[in-house]
Amino acid sequence: MAKSIKLPDATELTIRDISKKDIDALMNFFCGLNAEDRRYLRIDVTNRKTVEQRLNLMDFGYHFRIGAFQGDTLVAEGSLELPFEEWRRNQGEIRVLVSGPFQRRGAGMLLMKELYCLSLRQKVDTVVIWTMKPQVGAQNLARKMGFHDVSILPDYVRDQDGVMQDLFIMKGGVKALMKEIEKYYGELDWQSCL
Ligand SMILES: CC(C)(COP(=O)(O)OP(=O)(O)OC[C@H]1O[C@@H](n2cnc3c(N)ncnc32)[C@H](O)[C@@H]1OP(=O)(O)O)[C@@H](O)C(=O)NCCC(=O)NCCS
Repeated sequence: MAKSIKLPDATELTIRDISKKDIDALMNFFCGLNAEDRRYLRIDVTNRKTVEQRLNLMDFGYHFRIGAFQGDTLVAEGSLELPFEEWRRNQGEIRVLVSGPFQRRGAGMLLMKELYCLSLRQKVDTVVIWTMKPQVGAQNLARKMGFHDVSILPDYVRDQDGVMQDLFIMKGGVKALMKEIEKYYGELDWQSCL
């Protein structure tokens, strides 16, 4: 379902689920990211086939994507990925990506809030965020949005330039995270997410 949101600078965006039909908007969005932002993503998002393969994973009901659109243009994207394995069914991994011109305008925070709600709907109680060490902006965003628990695996993943990077895993309980962000958004009725 689509809903309108306003950034703090009053820019209006529409948030809605992303489907496979949005592939062109997604490719424009990914290809428009600056190279340094793309360098630390886990896949080559400029490769349409790779992106299509990931979108196909939504068919199984474990991957969810939401987008913030200005008109038909995708300006920020968020995802929740649930593990297939039963022993981790209480967990979800969230990710947020914002296009250059929209960075530092509050879109990342708003998408995170939506992803917390989506996590509750999917009966996830613990969410994690994986970043590479240089993704300082994402780590700060996560801290601001209530993530305080960080584990670091040194030299664990390879960036798009082939350089080994430390992996930062940040973890939080969804209900505690929602409580923590009430200072920005006022009291949140998490029951309304269900
Ligand atoms: C990281 C990212 C998602 C943040 O989204 P955003 O919309 O720019 O962030 P917001 O405007 O909501 O910022 C919220 C807070 O996050 C932190 N933050 C965001 N970008 C930051 C940056 N470049 N440097 C330092 N802190 C940053 C700040 O604490 C900021 O609050 P402030 O502006 O009041 O200081 C976005 O910049 C992005 O997509 N970066 C490239 C890709 C990436 O690293 N994705 C994360 C993968 S999990």
